[in-house]
Amino acid sequence: MIERKQLGIAVVGAGRIGSLRAGLAAGHPGVNFIAISDADPARARDLAQRIGAQFHSGDNLAAISRPEVNAVIVATSEGEHVRPVMQALELGKTVLVEKPLALTLSEADGILAAAEKRGANLRVGYSRRYKERYLIAKEQVMQGRVGRIVGASARVFNSRSQALAMLKRNPGATPVVDALTYYVDLVNWMLEGAHVTEVFARGQKGVLKEAGHDTDDVTWAILSYSDGAVANLGVSYALPAKYPALGHAARLEVLGTEGVMILDDDHTDQLMYSEKGVPHVYLPDHSVNMVFLQSGTPGDWALGDFWGPIANETRAWLDHLALGKPCALATPREARRTLEVTLAIEQSAASRKPVALPLAK
Ligand SMILES: NC(=O)c1ccc[n+]([C@@H]2O[C@H](COP(=O)([O-])OP(=O)(O)OC[C@H]3O[C@@H](n4cnc5c(N)ncnc54)[C@H](O)[C@@H]3O)[C@@H](O)[C@H]2O)c1
Repeated sequence: MIERKQLGIAVVGAGRIGSLRAGLAAGHPGVNFIAISDADPARARDLAQRIGAQFHSGDNLAAISRPEVNAVIVATSEGEHVRPVMQALELGKTVLVEKPLALTLSEADGILAAAEKRGANLRVGYSRRYKERYLIAKEQVMQGRVGRIVGASARVFNSRSQALAMLKRNPGATPVVDALTYYVDLVNWMLEGAHVTEVFARGQKGVLKEAGHDTDDVTWAILSYSDGAVANLGVSYALPAKYPALGHAARLEVLGTEGVMILDDDHTDQLMYSEKGVPHVYLPDHSVNMVFLQSGTPGDWALGDFWGPIANETRAWLDHLALGKPCALATPREARRTLEVTLAIEQSAASRKPVALPLAK
């Protein structure tokens, strides 16, 4: 007889991603209680009313400490993850926190220590893992179908309008730390068991600097792994504002001794032109006429429900909690390693020198 656990979920941060996660939780058969909190109490109230949550507040601890709550989703802005995660861990709750785990290694280590001290179930939302093409790629690696991985390449492009929204939300959320981080996680995941020992990177400034942000328009990095594998990763969040992708335009290639995988994630094969214009899933006052469908990073609304990476990931996590099914969400140790690599890429691009890992804290 499958044992089914009843879930009470608190969602901290009622913004774009918190709203998606809360809506998906409200539609999950294992969830019978939802509490919402946000630094802006009105946002928490509006989301709670929209999804039929039982509780809402401007006080995170009030939501996290509800007796009905046994799991917490932290979807606050990048620089605001640490405190609510620590509050939830201290109360013995299970936690899903959005990426990046934190913005500094010392903060990440504080979370890791607290989680490991309590044997807590903490996961990090590297939702690219739950875009089906990457989930299936991981399965091929696990089946040994590409043999030993000797190299990989991954890059992500996006429009400058998305970069400016991200940097406005948090200056520390640079394209490397906040976007390339997904692909560092994916390549680390494909190369599970090995770790990065050295990074060499170069970047170039341009339109983002002109817009007032001391951030590179483009960054390329060479990652060397402990098993000898080498990977080339790159990010540019400076594409023209009206570039037709609504999110990541990406590619991942994996080179093995027995095979190769080439995953095109640019979505240029799914185009729509609309005189009416298409709203941006992520930027409220932004619409485009030409669009690559299914290029929205979290996923897409269709026929009244949400589909795609965030939907798959949230449902997999809730099934994991309710039914004890295994899930592939990133662990805090993996997320800490990914953060370290992204910080090393930024250091190497700034110093123009190779950077050895582990980084001094
Ligand atoms: N997995 C994905 O596909 C994906 C996509 C986009 C963003 N993200 C991540 O999700 C997180 C949230 O991003 P977003 O786009 O939803 O941002 P957002 O700005 O839309 O929402 C953040 C919300 O957090 C609230 N908030 C900020 N500090 C708070 C605090 N201390 N306590 C309570 N509420 C607080 C804000 O008021 C806002 O409502 C970020 O870490 C981001 O990197 C993940």
